[in-house]
Amino acid sequence: MRIFLSLRLKKKNLLKLKNRDGNIKKEEEFMPKILAFLCNWCSYAGADLAGTSRLKYPPSILPIRVMCSSRVDPLFVLRAYLSGADGVLVAGCHPGDCHYEKGNYYTRRRFAMFKKIIEDVGLESDRLRLSWISASEGHRYAKVATEFTEKIKKLGESSAKNKIFL
Ligand code: FES
Repeated sequence: MRIFLSLRLKKKNLLKLKNRDGNIKKEEEFMPKILAFLCNWCSYAGADLAGTSRLKYPPSILPIRVMCSSRVDPLFVLRAYLSGADGVLVAGCHPGDCHYEKGNYYTRRRFAMFKKIIEDVGLESDRLRLSWISASEGHRYAKVATEFTEKIKKLGESSAKNKIFL
């Protein structure tokens, strides 16, 4: 059956599909759930700026404020996937700008370990992203949120959902 696709995104992320008879089918578009650990001093403020500047970015990100990116424990990341997150974003101050001097250097080192851990438990390492976003970079936050959401959409739902894989 030939299907005419009208690509109009509706409020609840619905795609309208119209077949030859004119019947309309509604199919839900996959909107990933992304947990974002944002450092209080830079990235959270950047996200706030993106919001107050009314920049457009997908509603897929659930921000969690941490005092520094180095506060993000590998268990937080694993717990996020086990709780149904499709992706995890860790964002902090640019290297050299951390309010606790070396916090983001620790995060950068730890990130390689984070990636290894999630690969070891059977997830794609692309489901995890580290970004440096300063308080004045609302546009960068919106760009990172959009890019990461698109990447997770391509990967699809996390296989960790509803499964115990540890
Ligand atoms: Fe922002 Fe440490 S305070 S990364």
